Amino acid sequence: MPSVKKGNKMPSVVFVCLGNICRSPTAHGVFQNFVDAAGLSEKIKVDSAGTSSWHIGDAPDARAQAEALLRGYDLSKLKARQAMPQDFHIFDYICAMDQSNFDDLAQLSAGQNLSKLHLFMDFAPEWQMKQIPDPYYGNDNGFADVLDMIEAASKRLLADMKRNFDL
Ligand code: 4NP
Repeated sequence: MPSVKKGNKMPSVVFVCLGNICRSPTAHGVFQNFVDAAGLSEKIKVDSAGTSSWHIGDAPDARAQAEALLRGYDLSKLKARQAMPQDFHIFDYICAMDQSNFDDLAQLSAGQNLSKLHLFMDFAPEWQMKQIPDPYYGNDNGFADVLDMIEAASKRLLADMKRNFDL
């Protein structure tokens, strides 16, 4: 699994979904919280983006914010942006929420640094589901399910980053 080499710069991850208002900002907020709790806020850079331009500048969906807040994650300060080819140069880990995001990102990369691209749930081997379902058009339960998956994958991703970068 690890595709990252140790380097001098601050290790970094960007979480990517379609709109950057539901799943990836949730992953951004949860993972940032895990990083902060581990005392690594100054050592790991966290970001999120969407493959589409539909919600650029928007705050996370109100349902995603409310569900995250129930577990202590504050997403209110995040703003959506669109993923760009440079992300494959800037970040060490590019974590796609589902296969469609993964495929769109692979295309965006133009084959550059493709080994940085992961399906986020590949970090959670205990979960059979490898794609985080899009909760946007579903019912509110979808957001709690998304959080369960994201918490599991975040725990393992942080362990992977700590191991790869000697943190
Ligand atoms: P996300 O969910 O990719 O998890 O942010 C979506 C947000 C917005 C739309 C689709 C999915 N949309 O169609 O606007």
